[in-house]
Amino acid sequence: MISWTLALVPLLFGTGFGLISHDGITGRLPAMGWSSWNEYECNINETVFVNVGKLLVSLGLKDLGYNYVNIDDCWSNKVSQRDNTTGKIQPDFGKFPQGIKHTADEIHKLGLKIGIYSDAGSLTCGGFAGSLGHEVLDAKTWADWGIDYLKYDNCNVPDEWDDDYRWWPENWLGGPPDEDQTAGGDGEAKPVPAPPGYDWTSSKSFTRYKVMSDALVAVNRTIQYSQCAWGHARIDEWGNLTGQSWRMWGDIYPIWSGKAQWSWGVMPILNHASFFHNNTDFWGHGDFDMLEVGNGNLTIEESRSHFAMWAALKSPLIIGTALEGIKPEILEILSNKDLIAFNQDPVFGKSAKPYKWGVNADFTWNQTHPAEYWSGQSSKGTHVFVLNTLDIAQKKTIVFEEVPELDSDAEYVVYDLWTGQKQGRFETKYEALVERHDTVAIRLVKVNYCDHE
Ligand SMILES: *[C@@H]1O[C@H](CO)[C@@H](O)[C@H](O)[C@H]1NC(C)=O
Ligand SMILES: *[C@@H]1O[C@H](CO)[C@@H](O)[C@H](O)[C@H]1NC(C)=O
Ligand SMILES: *[C@@H]1O[C@H](CO)[C@@H](O)[C@H](O)[C@H]1NC(C)=O
Ligand SMILES: *[C@@H]1O[C@H](CO)[C@@H](O)[C@H](O)[C@H]1NC(C)=O
Ligand SMILES: *[C@@H]1O[C@H](CO)[C@@H](O)[C@H](O)[C@H]1NC(C)=O
Ligand SMILES: *[C@@H]1O[C@H](CO)[C@@H](O)[C@H](O)[C@H]1NC(C)=O
Ligand SMILES: *[C@@H]1O[C@H](CO)[C@@H](O)[C@H](O)[C@H]1NC(C)=O
Repeated sequence: MISWTLALVPLLFGTGFGLISHDGITGRLPAMGWSSWNEYECNINETVFVNVGKLLVSLGLKDLGYNYVNIDDCWSNKVSQRDNTTGKIQPDFGKFPQGIKHTADEIHKLGLKIGIYSDAGSLTCGGFAGSLGHEVLDAKTWADWGIDYLKYDNCNVPDEWDDDYRWWPENWLGGPPDEDQTAGGDGEAKPVPAPPGYDWTSSKSFTRYKVMSDALVAVNRTIQYSQCAWGHARIDEWGNLTGQSWRMWGDIYPIWSGKAQWSWGVMPILNHASFFHNNTDFWGHGDFDMLEVGNGNLTIEESRSHFAMWAALKSPLIIGTALEGIKPEILEILSNKDLIAFNQDPVFGKSAKPYKWGVNADFTWNQTHPAEYWSGQSSKGTHVFVLNTLDIAQKKTIVFEEVPELDSDAEYVVYDLWTGQKQGRFETKYEALVERHDTVAIRLVKVNYCDHE
């Protein structure tokens, strides 16, 4: 039995072709769940995941839609890697004493789903067994264990699998080139840009991700496919043909702005999203990485903005913080029903998009002050998200005429998505005081003069 079917032939992206799950449900909307990486990195074991599963239930997060418990890197036996008779990846029995299938069974008993992690290279980012060349066996192994989701990373790609041309999101033409890449560091040849009109489905990156896609399609189980290729090789143009989500950029870090080692704060990622948000629709989602809400030095306002913008972008919402002892104000952000409803809207699949940059002129590439004014449609109205990127509180004005989804001469009932409260009726504009790094999020519903609301 086939779990995934390709809807007609792969044609140019944007024509609505892509991978639809056999069950007709899984992956249509952005995934929601929890992953171990941001909080625990390699310090994982079965107890961590079973406890998280129980907490997703008891904290009410499962009922809000957070249903995947995802094991990230470091779950397998780093020394033996694979069974030398069967070739199967060996779990680390120190961390998972009864194997991964047992953990999966425990998670399923809670009414939740379980995710696993591997890599389209010889080793994972942490140096554990990768799946390149073992795709069919690994997909079968995970299906046998009862796995429901695969995050597939992009480290340790052997030289013969290098792409002929390079496209990394950090050095697309709208931004300054990254010095590592123009210098061609590590003795590598200077990267060659693709000729105009190059079809990235002829890249080796496409092949590496497609082989695993085919292997997952062939197993008798629905396994959601989260492609973690960091935006390379224009995966945003073809990821819809091979999986249900694709990472847009490098790893996230719990800081507002700037970069720490190889990972990025919320603002640089949102700057990229200000330009690259078009290819998200049902069944395929640009993934701006797992949530850092609750982690590091993000203030409450920054955490609110991070969550609101990831929800607005229809990025998968994968919690990355410890649930044990979670602060009530963090739980409240992650539990925001109205933001989740926008992210999971059953009728409108497109991401919110910027209608105005704000601090900078429209289409300014700027890693500290990305687009501030965003809007999108849901089945419950028009949503507007306005971020304050400045370091002091600002009065922000939403001018109805500027918002593409609004009718400039109509009257709207405005609801605040943070409080759920009706703010009243407004014509032409809505004003709000927005704290430093906070986001105002509202829903506008046109007043129908036949109704009494
Ligand atoms: C992705 O594929 C699905 C399923 O065929 C389709 O509904 C959707 O419109 C595609 N997305 C884009 C942006 O083309
Ligand atoms: C499991 O991992 C957690 C988080 O790293 C740790 O606190 C706990 O001691 C570990 N438990 C076992 C049995 O190793
Ligand atoms: C297979 O692996 C086992 C356990 O790691 C080891 O003892 C044995 O020597 C290996 N056999 C071969 C043929 O490599
Ligand atoms: C596929 O999985 C279903 C549900 O677990 C099972 O009933 C069916 O027998 C399986 N089919 C094959 C060919 O293994
Ligand atoms: C996204 O769509 C907008 C509006 O159609 C267009 O101006 C822009 O160039 C697109 N961006 C990308 C990266 O394709
Ligand atoms: C948080 O702030 C402290 C003190 O300013 C700093 O030492 C630490 O590195 C910061 N942590 C992160 C994740 O940025
Ligand atoms: C980003 O925008 C801010 C606000 O306009 C400006 O002060 C800053 O210089 C810009 N950064 C760069 C690197 O251009």
